[in-house]
Amino acid sequence: MNTWKKRAVYTYGILLMCAAFGAVAIAGGQPLKDNACGACHADYSTIMPKNHPDVGKAAACLTCHAQDPAKNEATKFSTEIHKIHQGEKAKLECSSCHAL
Ligand code: HEC
Ligand code: HEC
Ligand code: HEC
Repeated sequence: MNTWKKRAVYTYGILLMCAAFGAVAIAGGQPLKDNACGACHADYSTIMPKNHPDVGKAAACLTCHAQDPAKNEATKFSTEIHKIHQGEKAKLECSSCHAL
């Protein structure tokens, strides 16, 4: 590859990375859709982690795990849910859960 082509490739790569981080920044302000989990998981008992504290009958996860909207920081819960759906067990678009 000649130097100009290489430079073009690097520039393109950097632009792509900016776009990716930009998307995260925007999504940070974005709430979840209604029934974000129930749309795909009808039975919450099947997605309850095995080592989860006993909370009786499985209820919608976010009734307990909603994060403080003022902070908008990652919680252990959101980190875990992102990890699961961004490669570990599934590969979802952000918009599967977030109202973008
Ligand atoms: C667009 C569909 C979709 C949405 C929306 C969705 N999930 Fe999932 N989820 C999946 C798929 C596919 C898997 C991997 C297959 C499986 O384990 O059922 C999965 C797996 C999981 C697992 C792992 C289950 C296991 O096998 O250990 C958990 C926990 C989970 N989801 C929680 C959630 C929560 C909480 C939400 C809402 C914030 C959510 N999911 C929203 C599709 C979805
Ligand atoms: C009735 C309240 C309640 C419900 C409903 C609930 N949880 Fe939890 N969850 C907890 C409590 C309490 C802990 C322990 C928190 C701690 O140790 O800091 C926990 C911990 C967790 C953790 C470990 C990470 C962390 O925050 O400590 C994961 C992952 C998790 N829950 C996933 C789920 C999923 C998935 C659902 C829905 C299927 C769900 N929870 C529903 C109360 C709940
Ligand atoms: C399976 C559902 C799901 C998918 C897919 C998903 N998210 Fe999330 N996200 C959540 C949940 C649940 C929270 C915690 C929200 C709450 O408690 O209000 C969250 C919170 C966030 C936050 C706030 C900080 C944090 O980590 O808690 C950001 C930023 C974010 N998501 C970005 C994204 C981006 C970018 C994508 C796509 C690459 C994405 N999310 C895909 C479920 C999902």
